[in-house]
Amino acid sequence: MKRQVRKAVFPVAGLGTRFLPATKASPKEMLPIVDKPLIQYGVEEAVAAGVDTLVFIIGRTKNAIADHFDKAYELEVELETRGKTDLLQIVRSIVPPRVECVYVRQAEALGLGHAVLCARPVVGNEPFAIILADDLIEEDAREGGALSQMARHFNKYQCSILGVERVPPEETNKYGIVRPLPFASRISNVDNIVEKPKPADAPSNLAVVGRYILTPRIFDLLENTPRGAGNEIQLTDGIAALLNEEQVLAYEFSGRRHDCGSKLGYLIATVEYGARHPELGEEFQAYLRANTHRLDKSAPPVEG
Ligand code: G1P
Repeated sequence: MKRQVRKAVFPVAGLGTRFLPATKASPKEMLPIVDKPLIQYGVEEAVAAGVDTLVFIIGRTKNAIADHFDKAYELEVELETRGKTDLLQIVRSIVPPRVECVYVRQAEALGLGHAVLCARPVVGNEPFAIILADDLIEEDAREGGALSQMARHFNKYQCSILGVERVPPEETNKYGIVRPLPFASRISNVDNIVEKPKPADAPSNLAVVGRYILTPRIFDLLENTPRGAGNEIQLTDGIAALLNEEQVLAYEFSGRRHDCGSKLGYLIATVEYGARHPELGEEFQAYLRANTHRLDKSAPPVEG
């Protein structure tokens, strides 16, 4: 019988140090792009791909994510009394009713591989997706979201699939980098994968960017993965072990990616999503056009 991807894992226990102090009491995945937190974009992408169980691997700032996806009785009553039906609809439809949320606590921040391993009791013996919500990927008008595209390929090939993108060669040290062998249009057979290699050592410039579909065999391998780069248990190292046993494909998805794990990428995403926002896009674009002079270098810097 053909297997389908029904569960998605969201590792959200990272320390988010790049965004301190904003991330002192809440995870970086709760940072909003205009009016929606990053995690909600990721959840919407997963649900559109057919996922019905969301597994959040939470850490120190455990409440924020659960509170966001829980029913908010007081808020709903308040909005109802005030007749704010549009807003009521927005807070009620954050997760569709058929979708279940499960929270697993990662007691120690031992790395992405360890976070994924924490999902094992919920995922069990099924293929599953992983979404790193700080990689925000715009939905492609024709092909749909990145995870939907990957799920279609999973349905066909029934093997692990990594979402990849070409990055500037000098940036390989920020990503898991694959050595690809030709397979099909926009799809490669992964021959090797290394975590954050220096440009001189990188096997290519094809980088894994926050979307994975993996077979459950990865759990056994992660159990035995020693600490790697940064003294952490790396998902990339687990995938390298998986390659010795199973086929793993790398898929170049359609859709612009924003690296919202960096301040610059986050700002760019905010401007682009703002400029296209249904309510305020036009006004924001007009503001940007009329005020470029304010962005001049000679203007005094904002204290940060
Ligand atoms: C993680 C992974 C890396 C991957 C990247 C995608 O790194 O370890 O392999 O390419 O996510 O965003 P991080 O960005 O958490 O340092």
